[in-house]
Amino acid sequence: MKTITPNAIIAKKNMEKIVMITAYDALFAKLFDEYVDIILVGDSLNMSFNGQKDTINIGMREMIYHTRAVKNGAKHAMVILDMPFGAVSDKKTALKNSIKAYKKSGCDAIKIEGGADKADLIFHLTKNAIAVCGHIGLKPQMVRFEGGYKVKGRGGEAEISALITDAKALEKAGVFAIVVEGTLSSVAEKIAKSVQVPVIGIGSGVNVDGQVLVWSDMLGFFEEFHPKFAKTYLDGASIVKKAVQNYADEVRNSIFPSKEFEYKE
Ligand code: KIV
Repeated sequence: MKTITPNAIIAKKNMEKIVMITAYDALFAKLFDEYVDIILVGDSLNMSFNGQKDTINIGMREMIYHTRAVKNGAKHAMVILDMPFGAVSDKKTALKNSIKAYKKSGCDAIKIEGGADKADLIFHLTKNAIAVCGHIGLKPQMVRFEGGYKVKGRGGEAEISALITDAKALEKAGVFAIVVEGTLSSVAEKIAKSVQVPVIGIGSGVNVDGQVLVWSDMLGFFEEFHPKFAKTYLDGASIVKKAVQNYADEVRNSIFPSKEFEYKE
């Protein structure tokens, strides 16, 4: 089975919506693979998988470990490694870490949070054959700097035009797609219309070129916090809890294992 390429993602603009989901291991990547175009190994794994309060304290080592696992499970979807906080602080570090990501995880592309401020650096990477997905709007790696998760696009014309400038700078730098997070839907629509590369939204409305959700939010496993924009397609946590409670009850009451689960003499 062929893996989806950056050019195939670009070709979907104005043709069909792009479906992206996060995954952090081979087990779930394999379950999601046939239904999605892109699997993002997001640094959100530091919160949902690792139990931390934000995405800041995760490094290349962990991102590579989880991306390699996802690559082992995904045969069709493009797999993107999300560059963690600090991994692309300057051009030299960014290229070194991107090559490491490619070689050690087998990823098909990387994602970088940042807009016009990161355009030169991203151009340096794309020139060196690294496929890059941009990420603008609400950037979770800015959470400590900005003092929280702030919805973007409410700041009037100056903010809107800065976001459009970001998208255009990323396009010029050679990205194959741009994630736009936590942005007013009317603004995200303008951003999508201002560039030829696909804009993939999260909490940014329907008038963009595709959607991404964090799997543990959309399948109802992450109980700490539920973002307003994340539709829950499964009540995962309560289904799992009921099943484990049932198992525990059966073990405690010597119901499991019954004869059918024993080896024959
Ligand atoms: O880390 C992540 O999962 C992400 C998505 C929210 C786009 O960056």
